[in-house]
Amino acid sequence: TNIVILISGRGSNMQAIVNAAIPEVRVAAVIANRADAAGLAWAAARGIPTAVLDHKAFAGREAFDAALAGLIDGYMPDLVVLAGFMRILTPGFVNRYAGRLINIHPSLLPAFTGLHTHERALAEGVKFAGCTVHFVTAELDHGPIIAQAVVPVADDDTPETLAARVLVEEHRLYPEAVRLFAQRRLVIEAGRVRVAGAAE
Ligand code: GRF
Repeated sequence: TNIVILISGRGSNMQAIVNAAIPEVRVAAVIANRADAAGLAWAAARGIPTAVLDHKAFAGREAFDAALAGLIDGYMPDLVVLAGFMRILTPGFVNRYAGRLINIHPSLLPAFTGLHTHERALAEGVKFAGCTVHFVTAELDHGPIIAQAVVPVADDDTPETLAARVLVEEHRLYPEAVRLFAQRRLVIEAGRVRVAGAAE
C-alpha cells in the first residue's frame, strides 16, 4: 500500500507512521503546505521524497486543492494520510479520495471538532479526552470513525499537559489505523467502519 502523508508542522504523527515500519506500507511522499514544516527535513533525512505546495501561492481553495491533487496523484497513493495538515479541504478534493483519505483529530469525536480542542475540553470539565482517526468527508472532523483512544483528564491539566497525554495515544493509534487500512480490514458499511478480522 502506497501512502502519501500531508503535514503542516512538526509532523510527529508522520514520524510515528514512518517509524512503525508497517510491512504492508510504503511511504511514497510527504507533502507540506509550508516550506518551514519541521517534518519535511525529518522525512527527507530518511530518504522519503518530499514536496511543498504553498497555499498562499494560489487564488483560492479550489485552485490549491486542484494543484494538491495533481501533486498527490503523481505518487499514485492508495491512501492519503492527513497528519496535522492545517488546511480545510474542498468537497471536490475530499470526494476525489473518498474512502482513501484519513485524518487524526485530538478529541473523542463527535465532541470538540475544529481548533483548540484541549482548551475547550478542559473548559467543559470532561473527565476523559482522547483522539480519533476517521475517514475524511466534506464536513470538517466528521466522517466514519476508524479508531479512538481515551485518556483520563487530571484536575490540574492545562491544554499543554492534556495535549501531550493525548499525543502519546495518537502516535500509537494512527500507525495502527494505517496498518488496518493496508490490510484491507476497514469496511465502510452504512457510513460506519467495521474492522474485519485478520482472516476475513
Ligand atoms: C495532532 O495533535 C493532530 O491530532 C492534530 O494536529 C497535531 C499535529 O501534530 N490534527 P504533528 O504535526 O503530527 O506533530
